[in-house]
Amino acid sequence: KQDEMCKTGQFPGLRNDLILRAARGQHTERAPVWIMRQAGRYLPEFRKLRESHDFFTCCRTPSLACEITLQPIRRYSGLLDAAIIFSDILVVPQAMGLEVEMLPQKGPHFPDPLETPKDMDRLHKKIDVNKELGYVYEAITMTRKELAGEVPLIGFCGAPWTLMAYMIEGGGSKGFEKAKRWLFDYPEESKVLLQKIADVCADFLVGQVKAGAQMVQVFDSWAGELSPANFRTFSLPYLRSIASTVNERLACSSTACVPMIIFAKGALGHSLPEISRAGYDVVALDWTVEPAVARRVVDLATPGSAAKISKGAADNEAAHRIALQGNMDPSVLYASKEAIEKEVERMLRSKKGGFGGEGAYIANLGHGITPGVDPENLKAYLKAIHRISREINSE
Ligand code: CP3
Repeated sequence: KQDEMCKTGQFPGLRNDLILRAARGQHTERAPVWIMRQAGRYLPEFRKLRESHDFFTCCRTPSLACEITLQPIRRYSGLLDAAIIFSDILVVPQAMGLEVEMLPQKGPHFPDPLETPKDMDRLHKKIDVNKELGYVYEAITMTRKELAGEVPLIGFCGAPWTLMAYMIEGGGSKGFEKAKRWLFDYPEESKVLLQKIADVCADFLVGQVKAGAQMVQVFDSWAGELSPANFRTFSLPYLRSIASTVNERLACSSTACVPMIIFAKGALGHSLPEISRAGYDVVALDWTVEPAVARRVVDLATPGSAAKISKGAADNEAAHRIALQGNMDPSVLYASKEAIEKEVERMLRSKKGGFGGEGAYIANLGHGITPGVDPENLKAYLKAIHRISREINSE
């Protein structure tokens, strides 16, 4: 059944594969760039569409999700090197049986969050991900066709710990006390829940790739809430589980593997070596890490792959150099265009502690773009990345 859904053969050829090459550890003529939350509330065209459509209706209606995904691609024509499918990480808890609504001004809200491990009985026993989240696959297939090979399409899911945190807190939280209490009081039950979420996430990512996603990112937005020990006990094993399951399952169904990105926000300061060995092709950095330091730490932690500062490694090369992604503080986009350019210089130039020109690098922010940003400032950021990275990468 899943093989019937494999649509990879029927899509138009890709005209810009810069991000796929960088993700495979290769040198590129300039740094590819995309932006977390590039389709979102900072765009007037998104806000306009949201006036007449509820948030999860947008997620569940393939034509709307496709339209929103394409909005930034159109506006920043030629400046973005990837599209990311419009959806939300919270569609997974919905598929597992929890109700989630998006409240205006407040964000996500679970009317009946999990309170004690007994509440795990309320989750579906067996989850047919292809049925529950088939609307995401449809949106991906439709968008991939609409993109007509202009840029690759990224799929995504939330990480088990971040999703568990929402499922217990019932929404955003300052201290995550309820979710963390589970880790201390019910460690074994927490692990059962985390593995259950990881299994759904792996299924979901496999389905997204079969539907046409050319790269996928796992968002562990709340990784930084955990101590180093708890990150390694309650987050990292499940991130590894997702990467290995996705790659095995794709190989078994003769579907080409796609690059996988891990974004463990706030955990890089203590666990960058472990994260770089978790089975992902790309490690996304937040802005609290100095790029040149991260580059060195990741190369040291992954010696087999770092040796291949590969200018021409085969596309499916197993042990390529781990690529980095990031990592500008999103708040820089509130500043003047001159300040934005200056910060891009700092992020890219190796003599300023930046990523340098060796490739294996994807430019992005260190977290999602925020609603108050002027879209023209994002344009200045994208243009600066193009201009400066082309210069540095040819030096
Ligand atoms: O990156 C993209 O453009 C793709 C779409 C995308 C959305 N959410 C759309 C969205 C992605 C990748 C996400 C991931 C997501 N969702 C994360 C992980 C990334 C991160 O920022 O840490 C998280 C934690 C969520 C949960 C979530 N969804 C929150 C906390 C909120 C409300 C606050 C906010 O930042 O906007 C959402 C809503 C949401 N998801 C919006 C969008 C465009 C805005 C909601 C609206 O239109 O009212």
